Amino acid sequence: MERTKIYKALKASSGEKITVCGWVRSFRANRFIALNDGSCLSSLQVVIDFENTEQQLLDTISVGASISVSGEMVESQGSGQKIELQAHTINVIGTANPEEVQKTILQPKKHNLETLREQAHLRFRTNLFGAVFRIRHHMSFAVHNYFNQKGYFYIHTPIITGSDAEGAGEMFKVTTVDNAQKKYNPEEDFFGKQTHLTVSGQLEAELAALALSQVYTFGPTFRAENSNTTRHLAEFWMIEPEIAFADLKDNIDLAEDFLKYLVNYALTNCMEDLLFLNERDEKEDLQRPKNLRSELNLIDRLRFVVDNEFIKITYSEAIDILINSKPNKKKKFKYLVEWGIDLQSEHEKYLVEKHFKKPVVIFDYPKGVKAFYMRENSDDKTVAAMDVLFPGIGEIVGGSQREERHDVLLKKCKEFGIPQEHVWWYLETRKFGTVPHAGFGLGFERLIMFVTGMQNIRDVIPFPRTPKNAEF
Ligand code: 4AD
Ligand code: MG
Repeated sequence: MERTKIYKALKASSGEKITVCGWVRSFRANRFIALNDGSCLSSLQVVIDFENTEQQLLDTISVGASISVSGEMVESQGSGQKIELQAHTINVIGTANPEEVQKTILQPKKHNLETLREQAHLRFRTNLFGAVFRIRHHMSFAVHNYFNQKGYFYIHTPIITGSDAEGAGEMFKVTTVDNAQKKYNPEEDFFGKQTHLTVSGQLEAELAALALSQVYTFGPTFRAENSNTTRHLAEFWMIEPEIAFADLKDNIDLAEDFLKYLVNYALTNCMEDLLFLNERDEKEDLQRPKNLRSELNLIDRLRFVVDNEFIKITYSEAIDILINSKPNKKKKFKYLVEWGIDLQSEHEKYLVEKHFKKPVVIFDYPKGVKAFYMRENSDDKTVAAMDVLFPGIGEIVGGSQREERHDVLLKKCKEFGIPQEHVWWYLETRKFGTVPHAGFGLGFERLIMFVTGMQNIRDVIPFPRTPKNAEF
């Protein structure tokens, strides 16, 4: 059976004979089926000549059922669509019991996002999640497209790792030892040492960049931090480019160019889904109190990012702005603002959403709040780190120029309490033809949140992993 995808059927001309397969979204008047196969947002209207169709067959066509239909495309008499499929033969492939459907989100009405999350196995069938996951696909394709065009090589870094790149105590252990049975001895464990799920592919990507010059990783990343926020997952996807012969400025420029490319790619390739999400975003916005509403709608927010240069300021400048800000003077910030603090999301929010109203890149952070591998600046106080902050999202990218000087890196390892024997291979690259190099990590789900306007990170990954939640 030659099958036509519905996105193509909708562009067919009157008179074409086709076969389509999909799931019934609605069935009314024993005559009109809205059929959707997920290939695009729109459903195809299938019209049945019910007087000449067996009642037994009609009875099995119901919301949620899968069917195939052969027939002829004809100009529609109705107002909802230009073209529709006049059915000649209908096959019910899988039925759906209407009583059971009543209890699920397949029931065509508005369901709240929590309910949809509880039925993550079915939420792909909704317009909303169809749109989100089609966009997620296009964005991941765009990531590879961007780097491929620019001559970067895709490196697969390990998921099971013996190193801890970010240096925070927030990793998942990987072990085959039953800890309840005996005292843990790493030498008896599967790898002969303690291993974890990776928190970043960066250290390994650096090794590759110091030979292939420009590389990137794009893989799952795991963090056991117990932060139950709308922006954190325990399992998320990160894109980490790493470039040799490059400094912090090159790194910032790459991040800006890359983000603009991705957002523009969505505007160019995902407009049907974006228009749907835009309408949804506008409706959601109206539910909020006036002072919390956004000035721009979703599509305008995306265009704004593509069309405007990101603001670039040092951490010290950011602190000055915060110290002199209204909320600080009125003691509205929960966390104290002073040079040396790690910026909290309330501070980032103020800078991006109130002060600049633009994406902001903050660079040159105090070395105390950043990782051991970041390159020390000559002021002895800061490192060549950078974060990109987006309106409504906060930190979307974090990166740095790397410490390429062997002696300085060795000193940093000591200061951070990182045993040399754990990172000997990383240190060694600084002995054989070391070069200035830099890179960053883009949180893929945070990007998808920005592009789709979804407010909770659990709604942009098919099966979210968060504290106390690993269903499906
Ligand atoms: O700032 P982070 O921790 O940076 C790194 O891991 C570096 N090794 C990257 C590099 O230089 N190669 O994480 C990078 C980005 C953050 O900016 C954020 O977008 C995302 O990853 N991220 C998370 N996304 C979802 N859930 C979490 N728990 C996240 N933690 C970080
Ligand atoms: Mg960070």
